[in-house]
Amino acid sequence: MGLLEHKVCLVTGAGRGIGAETVRKFAEEGAAVYGTARTEGTLDARFAELAGQYHTPVVPLYFDVTDEAAAKRAVMQIRKEQGRLDVLVNNAGIMQDNVIGMIGYDLMRAVFDVNVFAVISMTQLAVKLMGRQGSGSVINLSSIVGLDGAAGQAVYSASKGAVAALTKAASKELSPKGIRVNAVAPGLIDTDLLRVIGEKRIEENLSHVRMGRLGRPEDVAGVITFLASDMSGYVTGKIIGVDGDFQV
Ligand SMILES: NC(=O)c1ccc[n+]([C@@H]2O[C@H](COP(=O)([O-])OP(=O)(O)OC[C@H]3O[C@@H](n4cnc5c(N)ncnc54)[C@H](OP(=O)(O)O)[C@@H]3O)[C@@H](O)[C@H]2O)c1
Repeated sequence: MGLLEHKVCLVTGAGRGIGAETVRKFAEEGAAVYGTARTEGTLDARFAELAGQYHTPVVPLYFDVTDEAAAKRAVMQIRKEQGRLDVLVNNAGIMQDNVIGMIGYDLMRAVFDVNVFAVISMTQLAVKLMGRQGSGSVINLSSIVGLDGAAGQAVYSASKGAVAALTKAASKELSPKGIRVNAVAPGLIDTDLLRVIGEKRIEENLSHVRMGRLGRPEDVAGVITFLASDMSGYVTGKIIGVDGDFQV
C-alpha cells in the first residue's frame, strides 16, 4: 500500500526539476496525479509512461498559473473526474534577478505574479474542494533565500519570503477546516533553475553546504511526499528546510 493511495494530487510546474520528480514519486506512492506545464503536449509521453509503470492515473493539464480562468477550469476538471482534491503542490516558480538599483517593475511583477499571486490564487481554488471534504494538504515551495535572503536576489528572496508568510497565515486560517498548509525551503537543488546562476556561483555557494553536495530533485520530492501523506497529519504551518545544512 503506497503512502498516497486514494489521494488526488495536483502539482504545478510538473515538466521538469522538482515538480517532475514530485509527480513521479506521488504516482509511485499510489496517488492519482495531475501535473501542469505551459506548453501543450510536453507532458503527454512521460505521464503516459508513469501511468503504465505505476498503474494509476497521471494526467497532464496545460495552463499558465498566472491565468486565473484557466487554473479554475483545470481544478473544475479534477473535480469532475475525481470528485475531490487532497493535495496541492504550488511548485511552479521563476527566478529572475537584478541588483538593487537596476530592478524594474516588469521584473518585480513577473516574479511576484508567478511565485506569489498565482500561489494564493491556486490555493483559493483548491481549498474550495478541500473545504467541502474537511481535509487537504497544501504544500508551497519557499526557498532558503526566502528565509535568509541572498545578495543580488532581492526580488526572488522577497517572493519566497512572502510564500513562507502566506503559508503560516493560510495554516492559521485553514487548519480548523482540516486543511494543512506547509512549505519546503530548498537550498541548492540541481535543476534548470539553479543552473541559470552559472557554474562559478554554484561552486561558491556549494562551499556553504555542510553536506558537500547539491540537492537532487528527489531530496525535495521526498519531503513533499511526507507533507502530502497522512504521516504528517499533525504538521501544519511549518517551513521545512531541505538544504544539506546550508550555512549562510
Ligand atoms: N532549484 C533550486 O535550487 C530551488 C531552490 C529553492 C526553491 N526552489 C523552488 O522550487 C520550485 C521548483 O523549482 P525547480 O528548480 O524545479 O525549477 P525549474 O526546473 O526551473 O522548473 C520550474 C517549473 O515551473 C514552471 N513554471 C514557471 N512559470 C510558470 C507559469 N507562469 N505557469 C506555469 N508553470 C510555470 C515551469 O513550467 P514550464 O515547463 O512550462 O516552463 C517548470 O515546470 C520553484 O518554485 C523554485 O523557486 C528551487
